[in-house]
Amino acid sequence: MYKTFRSVVRFRELELDPVERRLRSAATIEDLRRIAKRRLPRGVFDYFDGGAEDERTLANNSAGFAKLEFRPNVLRDVSELDVSTTLFGHQVAMPLMLAPTGYTRMATSDGELAVARAAARAGVPYSLSTMSTRSIEEVAAVSDGPKWFQVYTWKDRGLVEELVKRALVAGYEGLWLTVDTAVLGRRERDVRRGYTIPPKIGLDTIVDGIIHPAWTYDFLTHDPIQFANVVGRDGADGSEGIDLAGHVMSQFDQRLSWKDIEWLRGIWDGPIMLKGIQTVDDAERAVAMGVEGIGLSNHGGRQLDDAPAPIELAEPVAQHVQGQATIIVDGGVRRGSDVVKALALGADGVSIGRPYLFGLAAGGERGVDHVLRFFREGIERTMALTGRTNVSQIDRDLVRWRD
Ligand SMILES: Cc1cc2nc3c(=O)[nH]c(=O)nc-3n(C[C@H](O)[C@H](O)[C@H](O)COP(=O)(O)O)c2cc1C
Repeated sequence: MYKTFRSVVRFRELELDPVERRLRSAATIEDLRRIAKRRLPRGVFDYFDGGAEDERTLANNSAGFAKLEFRPNVLRDVSELDVSTTLFGHQVAMPLMLAPTGYTRMATSDGELAVARAAARAGVPYSLSTMSTRSIEEVAAVSDGPKWFQVYTWKDRGLVEELVKRALVAGYEGLWLTVDTAVLGRRERDVRRGYTIPPKIGLDTIVDGIIHPAWTYDFLTHDPIQFANVVGRDGADGSEGIDLAGHVMSQFDQRLSWKDIEWLRGIWDGPIMLKGIQTVDDAERAVAMGVEGIGLSNHGGRQLDDAPAPIELAEPVAQHVQGQATIIVDGGVRRGSDVVKALALGADGVSIGRPYLFGLAAGGERGVDHVLRFFREGIERTMALTGRTNVSQIDRDLVRWRD
């Protein structure tokens, strides 16, 4: 009996490092989300996790990928796999970018610095948000990897111009102009809580802080969270505590229109991607204006509910764009197989938001490494199982829509 017992029982090595232990237990992005939910105060978790109104778009973004199935080819030598590709003329380690997220330091105090370092290590571009909590220069100082800057157009165009110039000096490669945020979507989890940035302290916040001591300690022992790119600008840097919807309404330019693309072109020489394209017509118009990138995105379901799922736009947009611009599918990407599906429909790459935020909240910088490894391995595995050895072999034949 002892011999039989010995033959089947192997004791797992005890992992003493709590971050490693947490990350080892996370097999999926959903697992990281659950860990993040446990570790973050509820208001903060909902700010990261939530979507607009009934959150149908949020759900459909991911569900869109499940509507596709593979048509795998077998008996192809897949012993050598190459997941690298070029995006906007630059070699990247895999067809994936990290999308801009505002207020990243609410996950951990390292925030954008941790994400930028992890992205550089993994060889993928990171896009810094206008609403970031580390500045353009602070991020450039810790990462020599490919970096993009995401632009929200403030009413004060002088300020936008100044930010763009700073991004240029700091060596950022391209701009993402976000075009889906004329006003802020109604994020009802935040409305219900009266959530502000940074959170206002009330009895509920204190209780939330007490039951999430690790997060609270980290938050209280680091410098205050502000919109780091505009520190010192009255009313713009968030130091007073803002309600995001009111802030967007008062600071962002609702008059933003197609002619502003020319204005942006006048102050920026490098590639521009429009983030938030949601129809074929608008994609065509963007290409006609010479924009280099089409970001098929509904802001991760945080703006207009019942907006189309980006993955469902990939094929019709790719057919019209005909290779004249780089197409990025943004929203709901949760696995390497999702990346392969997007490429099969004609996208050049994808971008992810919440997956790396959940990784950051669950395990800091190592959590972001974990997420990027998860995607890389997932892309490799899917390619091996579908008989594709490099990204250029991922073709339309590889997927079909389920009936
Ligand atoms: C917490 C959070 C903050 C975000 N902040 C910004 C932002 O400042 N600028 C922007 O263009 N998009 C922002 N986004 C949208 C992301 O760039 C991206 O479009 C979205 O997260 C993709 O969907 P996914 O989270 O399903 O991957 C944010 C998303 C989240 C979840």
